[in-house]
Amino acid sequence: MIRKILITGGCGFIGSNFLNIMVPKHKNIKFHNIDKLTYAGKIKNLNKIRNSNNYSFSKLDICNFKKVNKVIKKFKPNIIVHFAAESHVDNSIISPGEFIKTNIDGTYNILRSMNKKIFLIHISTDEVFGHVIKNKSFNEKTKYNPRSPYSASKASADHLVSAWNNTYDFKSTIINCCNNFGPYQDREKFVPVIIKRILQKKNIPIYGDGKQKREWIFVNDFISSLEFIIFKNLIKENFIIGSGIRFENKALTKKIISLFEKNLKFNCKKSKLIRVKDRLGHDREYKVDCSKIKKLGWKSKTNFDKDLLETINFYKKKN
Ligand SMILES: NC(=O)c1ccc[n+]([C@@H]2O[C@H](COP(=O)([O-])OP(=O)(O)OC[C@H]3O[C@@H](n4cnc5c(N)ncnc54)[C@H](O)[C@@H]3O)[C@@H](O)[C@H]2O)c1
Repeated sequence: MIRKILITGGCGFIGSNFLNIMVPKHKNIKFHNIDKLTYAGKIKNLNKIRNSNNYSFSKLDICNFKKVNKVIKKFKPNIIVHFAAESHVDNSIISPGEFIKTNIDGTYNILRSMNKKIFLIHISTDEVFGHVIKNKSFNEKTKYNPRSPYSASKASADHLVSAWNNTYDFKSTIINCCNNFGPYQDREKFVPVIIKRILQKKNIPIYGDGKQKREWIFVNDFISSLEFIIFKNLIKENFIIGSGIRFENKALTKKIISLFEKNLKFNCKKSKLIRVKDRLGHDREYKVDCSKIKKLGWKSKTNFDKDLLETINFYKKKN
């Protein structure tokens, strides 16, 4: 029986959405969140649940082994969902050091504080597979080919988790997900940046030719896949999660503008797309094949226009 779930990075984008959904839904489970509260983590993301009886929080850096070890030993979770990471590719290009520390050392600290009874769900990205070659989707057997400091640090962490499964018979599962969108994402990321620029009636910067293609899943939908994995007890696995919904960056920007204009009657004339210097080593395309989890019964429910509109309304209200 699942009694306790420890979350790392629960004040960030995906972690806070996870807690906002799971804490009220599973009142018989205790959730403990550990988060360093970097620029990307905000306590206020959890305003809805922070006073719940089944939720608690420790401000803690996963790079501090002694403290991580103490919290895990004291809380005794059945499950750890490990979201904490430095997650912005652009930052990883400018200062990779923090990514190496948090994403690799931090994951090592989680692993060495665990035992064989704990089910670790390690959250990772489709970017570990590099970019699409010859139109072939990534699946669970695709060879790793990380091409940015961010994806290399995530790939390293994935390899550590696999090694602990193999060597010490740990029961961890690795999840490689495509791009998420939704509320509570830091304003430096692609979708919030576009929405913010439109709301401010400013031009929208587009990297290079804007033809980089990504797959997009609504964050609640991704969380439903994690809930599925948790309650089906899918241990010692790896899963790719996606929605099948893919857009070039420029096309997604235009989509957001059209939702603003048609659904919100917002005048976007002042927000022109402006080409800026491309990101160094920018991957052209990601595309995932998640038939493995589909065969087990999980299906993406992302309703792109509706979920994107909900996301836009969230940032509009915040503005
Ligand atoms: N956002 C996406 O589209 C996406 C897609 C696939 C995978 N992922 C992965 O999902 C996870 C969560 O991503 P996100 O977008 O929510 O990231 P985020 O940057 O919004 O949040 C990261 C959280 O981790 C915390 N954190 C950072 N360093 C820490 C440390 N040393 N100790 C403790 N806490 C620390 C931050 O304070 C923040 O709350 C990451 O592992 C990321 O690689 C994200």
